[in-house]
Amino acid sequence: MPDPDPPSDESSARRRPPGDAGTAARACQDPAAGGETPGEHRREAGTDVADPVRRSARTFGTGHPRLEAGPVTLRRPEERDAAAIAGCHNDPEIARWFGVAHPWTHDDALRYVTVEVPAWWSRGEEAVFAVVGADDAYQGSVDLRVRGTDPAAGEVGFFVAPAARGRGYATAALTAVCRWGFEALGLERVEWRAEVGNDASRRVAQKAGFTMEGLLRRALVTGGTRRDCWIGSLLREDMA
Ligand SMILES: CC(C)(COP(=O)(O)OP(=O)(O)OC[C@H]1O[C@@H](n2cnc3c(N)ncnc32)[C@H](O)[C@@H]1OP(=O)(O)O)[C@@H](O)C(=O)NCCC(=O)NCCS
Repeated sequence: MPDPDPPSDESSARRRPPGDAGTAARACQDPAAGGETPGEHRREAGTDVADPVRRSARTFGTGHPRLEAGPVTLRRPEERDAAAIAGCHNDPEIARWFGVAHPWTHDDALRYVTVEVPAWWSRGEEAVFAVVGADDAYQGSVDLRVRGTDPAAGEVGFFVAPAARGRGYATAALTAVCRWGFEALGLERVEWRAEVGNDASRRVAQKAGFTMEGLLRRALVTGGTRRDCWIGSLLREDMA
């Protein structure tokens, strides 16, 4: 999510080869795929892969939503957030866990907000939300990436600015983005992965209801290095 020059990592939608827009995006380009069909609402969730494909196509084919999430709101990142976004990427804790190799400049953040985030949205690959407080000021980010090989599965990432930590913002944002993924994208499973040792991230995932599933060896690439990671998941029915 935050690395402006990311290494190759199959777990990140941003790291897909250019032009591989994923199943949802291909459906976006199919005018028939986004439309209602008479039987659509009668299908059991998860029994027909077309359901998440169609829901994603519809959702990513429209504007970026605004989600209310208790103490925070999730909205589209905007140019006025650029300084705060750059600051977060230069925070040692965030840089450490995401493998941000180089300091982010204001221009890096502007490109991220005006070019990269809108491109991922329009390709149906990834939804990035700014996490903002009551004053609408940027406090962090949460993103949900759709897996091109499995349109019913997504993966989350999140961070919160140092000054805003410990107020429940990450937990609220993660809960809201997962609920949105199940409802608006038709996901069945959302995965959380974090490098082994990232106890704060693990705690947030647990507070949001994720079940810890184990340890994947050398499955996460950050800063160009393969690392062991924890994996957890939240299923649609876990939120019911
Ligand atoms: C992880 C992070 C997003 C948490 O943000 P936050 O808004 O402070 O999170 P919340 O307030 O919702 O909850 C934090 C929980 O983690 C706990 N926590 C914080 N630091 C911890 C640590 N080092 N070890 C264990 N638990 C920790 C808090 O006590 C709290 O749990 P509690 O309510 O049971 O006391 C933030 O610390 C961060 O941005 N870290 C760097 C980036 C990162 O690691 N992102 C995740 C990558 S997968």
